[in-house]
Amino acid sequence: MKKIYDCNNVAYPEFTKGRVISCKAEKGVRPDNSVFALVLAVSGDKLPMPGQFYMLHATKSDVLLGRPISVFHSEQKKDHVEITFLILQKGEGTKELCRLQKDDEISILGPLGNVFPKPESGKALIIGGGIGVAPVAGFAESLKDKTYDFYASFKSGKYALENIKPKKLVITTDDGSEGIHGMLPAALTVETIKAGNYSVVYACGPTPMLAYVKKTAEEAGVLCYLSMEARMACGMGVCLGCTIDTTEGNKRCCKDGPVFDSRIIKFPQFKDSFSAKAQPRKEPLTGEPDLSVSIKGVRLCNPLIGSSGTFGFGTEYASVFDVNRLGGIASKGLTLEPREGNSGIRLWETPSGLMNSIGLQNPGIPHFIEHELPEMLALKPVTIANLSGSTLESYIEGAKLLDKTEVPIIELNISCPNVAAGGASFGMTCALADQAVSAVRAVTAKPLIVKLTPQSPDLINVAIQCIKSGADGISLCNSFQGVAIDIERGVPVFDKIKAGFGGPAVRPIAMRLIYELCTEIKKLPAAQQVPVIAIGGIEKWQDVVEFIMCGAAAVEVGTNTFANPFTMLECIDGLAAFMKRKGYKNLEEMRGIVLN
Ligand SMILES: Cc1cc2nc3c(=O)[nH]c(=O)nc-3n(C[C@H](O)[C@H](O)[C@H](O)COP(=O)(O)OP(=O)(O)OC[C@H]3O[C@@H](n4cnc5c(N)ncnc54)[C@H](O)[C@@H]3O)c2cc1C
Ligand SMILES: Cc1cc2nc3c(=O)[nH]c(=O)nc-3n(C[C@H](O)[C@H](O)[C@H](O)COP(=O)(O)O)c2cc1C
Ligand code: FES
Repeated sequence: MKKIYDCNNVAYPEFTKGRVISCKAEKGVRPDNSVFALVLAVSGDKLPMPGQFYMLHATKSDVLLGRPISVFHSEQKKDHVEITFLILQKGEGTKELCRLQKDDEISILGPLGNVFPKPESGKALIIGGGIGVAPVAGFAESLKDKTYDFYASFKSGKYALENIKPKKLVITTDDGSEGIHGMLPAALTVETIKAGNYSVVYACGPTPMLAYVKKTAEEAGVLCYLSMEARMACGMGVCLGCTIDTTEGNKRCCKDGPVFDSRIIKFPQFKDSFSAKAQPRKEPLTGEPDLSVSIKGVRLCNPLIGSSGTFGFGTEYASVFDVNRLGGIASKGLTLEPREGNSGIRLWETPSGLMNSIGLQNPGIPHFIEHELPEMLALKPVTIANLSGSTLESYIEGAKLLDKTEVPIIELNISCPNVAAGGASFGMTCALADQAVSAVRAVTAKPLIVKLTPQSPDLINVAIQCIKSGADGISLCNSFQGVAIDIERGVPVFDKIKAGFGGPAVRPIAMRLIYELCTEIKKLPAAQQVPVIAIGGIEKWQDVVEFIMCGAAAVEVGTNTFANPFTMLECIDGLAAFMKRKGYKNLEEMRGIVLN
């Protein structure tokens, strides 16, 4: 596509590919390897302007969106433009960018955003904090030598200053490793700005620093431009996700900024809802946290349970990892009679998800009791028998058989999305759920967890009904329902058209359901406040923490075990390390802390 420029000769953004020329740890940075200099070759003949940024997205990437990164330096080469970015490793997206290698391809959208307006006269003051030094150093490079002073504030060490030629360079470091010991206010005050006789101030850096620069520059009566940051999706001004709070109303950081006249900026930018509501800090634990959970008197050594249908009968994964470290294992869905399951395609991968139409293939409860159950019971994790059925009678007969065994917990599955009769239909309304739960409750005294479908339009009331009908706990969610189409053949992929859908894609929806359910359960009399087992898209320990903070007693991991069999072990270790760091002695201390 032909490149077009606006009336200020600023290039309109293009979505294109860049080629990595080099990606090396930036020298002088502390700690080592926390900032990388990424140099890209981009076709074309137009240089980005100082202050602009690109959305950078590694071609092989685990994150959905590009990451906004400012131009540090750019040069016109014979047949391409060479752009250097300085990238601080923060989370997954920036880590990926820092791991790029020579000749890797990368998707880039840009150049984006407005530019630093050049000083009309007099001396400029340029201020950078941390990685925010990169864009302002890029801007300084475009000014005449010694027409500006440059203040750079770092936590430790110094970097990104090799291309600038200021009249005066002042460096501050929190640890005193370079320049003045302290933060920016140790070197820059209203008096310094007045004494410097500056005509204009430019700054980029952390929000508290920008708030300080705004205040001091405005008090000194000097025009000030701030380069702001906000979370971005499109980078193009369309999603309205990156708005900055200003005296003129919301401004889009990507399109109206990132450079703003300080006088319109209202701090704090993020309405600080996180810190306002944050839990009081605790001291880190010196010992190990207690990860155990009790479900109706049955103790699980930790809250991680292999979810039904994704962990066989417990022994299959035994050669892959130590399954004895798990808290529990839910068996494949069991019916009274053996079942062959569904015909046709049974699995269909989607972005961040997996559709399945297994159709409850299983050996039948009598076979399970004789063959699989003894092996499951020999393992350390608590065995949970997932009881399914097609009629009320078959649920009752199945429950009677299981009641005579040593199985510690029954998970009553009234939520299978993949069978024609019974299955999810019992979980769709309060009346049907009451029938199934009351009938099974009448024939077994074993702890009874009822597994529900997220498809019910009346889900929370169904769950509360199950508790009133005798459930000792609720597990939520069984698979969501989806449809996939084979576009070459022009037919639905699955013989039964609709199929179950799970995996990371469903997690935020499952989280919402757990939040709503736990909120309602909290309102019940204490005797009815049963444990909730959260299921849906768990892939990392952080997801487990989220579910527990939403009120879950334990969690089941399904699809992600296929993608990474170590998922549950990583979750156990990550959960323990998190609790230790945060000072949570046991799960009870963080359970439900986000509920009102
Ligand atoms: C205009 C602009 C220019 C920037 N220039 C640079 C630069 O030159 N060098 C550099 O290292 N960093 C720069 N940043 C910050 C950089 O975009 C974030 O550090 C990065 O998006 C974090 O992504 P992550 O996956 O590593 O971290 P995570 O914290 O895991 O990210 C989670 C989500 O939050 C977003 N996010 C987190 N922190 C920020 C942030 N500070 N700003 C915007 N989005 C954020 C991410 O994009 C992602 O969508 C700039 C940000 C903006 C808005
Ligand atoms: C291949 C497959 C088979 C499943 N079989 C059952 C089953 O027999 N009984 C049941 O209650 N849930 C079954 N499920 C649903 C999971 O136990 C789990 O509730 C669902 O996949 C959501 O969790 P996830 O997002 O972690 O995968 C199955 C899921 C998959 C992917
Ligand atoms: S990132 Fe979409 S409007 Fe700014």
